[in-house]
Amino acid sequence: MQFIIEGGKKLNGDIWVSGAKNAALPIIAATLLTDDECILDNVPRISDVETLLNILKSLGSAVAWTGEHQVTICNRNATFHNPDYQSVKSLRASILFFGSFLARFHTIDMIEPGGCIIGNRPLDTHFHALSKLGVRMEKKNGTYALSSDGLRGAEVVLLEASVTATENILMAAVYAQGVTVIKNAACEPHVQDLVTFLQKLGADIAGNGTTTLTVHGVSVLHGTVHTIIPDTIEAGTFLMLGIANKGKLRINNVIPEHMDVVLEKLKMMGAKFDVSDTTITTHSHGIMRAAKIDARPYPGIPTDLQSVFGVLATQIQGTTLIWDTLFEGRMGYVQELVRMGANAVICDPHRVLITGPTPLYGQEIRSFDLRAGAAMIIAGLIASGRTVINGAEIVSRGYERIVERLQAVGADIQQKDS
Ligand code: EPU
Repeated sequence: MQFIIEGGKKLNGDIWVSGAKNAALPIIAATLLTDDECILDNVPRISDVETLLNILKSLGSAVAWTGEHQVTICNRNATFHNPDYQSVKSLRASILFFGSFLARFHTIDMIEPGGCIIGNRPLDTHFHALSKLGVRMEKKNGTYALSSDGLRGAEVVLLEASVTATENILMAAVYAQGVTVIKNAACEPHVQDLVTFLQKLGADIAGNGTTTLTVHGVSVLHGTVHTIIPDTIEAGTFLMLGIANKGKLRINNVIPEHMDVVLEKLKMMGAKFDVSDTTITTHSHGIMRAAKIDARPYPGIPTDLQSVFGVLATQIQGTTLIWDTLFEGRMGYVQELVRMGANAVICDPHRVLITGPTPLYGQEIRSFDLRAGAAMIIAGLIASGRTVINGAEIVSRGYERIVERLQAVGADIQQKDS
């Protein structure tokens, strides 16, 4: 699939942020913790979500879209007989089933998950933490055999504040006997949304929003209705698109306090925008200055926005240091920006220096990962001439109807299925 963009059009109007992918995925996995029906609202219609739902269906769960963004799931009949390993293999986020599968089925075989190639992303933190709850793990030919004689609460110090490891341990701990204390837990808004969902099911979890979570095991969880939070990464992407394009975009369905540091950094750099309870509106004026953009665990700047900051950096005065303190393989997009006219030097796997302002020119480029793909769209929209983005399907994995939403605010972007 390709995106074909004629750049340089001023964008104007309202754009709506979808439900958060990285909240929807663990919450879908967590529905397995109850036999009762769960109704999830504001679920993004993206292929990553469909893939996880397919895995649930392959277990015998009843899964139905009951509204445009509402999915109803009942796992009463789920068994671990015939999981859809093809889907597991296609998606890194299928590791999110480790916790809920273990809580429900106790012994599982899981194929090593695939997904975006953005560095090493080892699963050590997951297994180290699960082992504290009494999980045994054996790896043979790309398959993990995980088993336990009943999960038991323990103190779990995460080796790093990993988002999906925190989510897995939470899901495993809700039924574990006794008390689990997770230290150095990730506390991203999507982790908080999972905790809120688990609490609604009846889980006993204290410390939501902090880096220490205390879970008292319970014996039964019930169904619930839950609305997924808006996607902070999408909100930040649209915000920086509006700023880079110097257009007037009103970004709707935002929780601004989930992006405090991003907003503060952009203001400090000179960007002009108004923030209300649920919207952010960009203005065309404002001279921006370069800054250090260091991506860190929440509440820092999210790594998932680092490439978008990279594109913005090509348009502002001075030298910006983009420093992804998390991933060591997420700078591939920079070489595409250079081909479009950017002045950038990759210093090492974590850091790049970008000096602006430089005009960007349309090119045939590639989308390296989901977030880099979104950044490439912004680059194409502010470049002069035609940009062709190859490998565009990776973007639709995480952004619902992105082409239609951008067209609605004046972007000249088409999708070509090849
Ligand atoms: N890391 C550190 N220090 C930390 C935490 C993490 O160096 O304190 C490193 C890890 O070693 C790894 C990277 O940062 O290389 C990411 O770590 P993490 O385990 O937190 O990533 P993840 O749980 O596999 C989730 C999101 C990613 C997002 C990362 C970081 C989901 C399904 N995935 O992945 O989202 O980039 O957290 O916030 O929630 C995406 O949506 O495109 C995506 C890749």
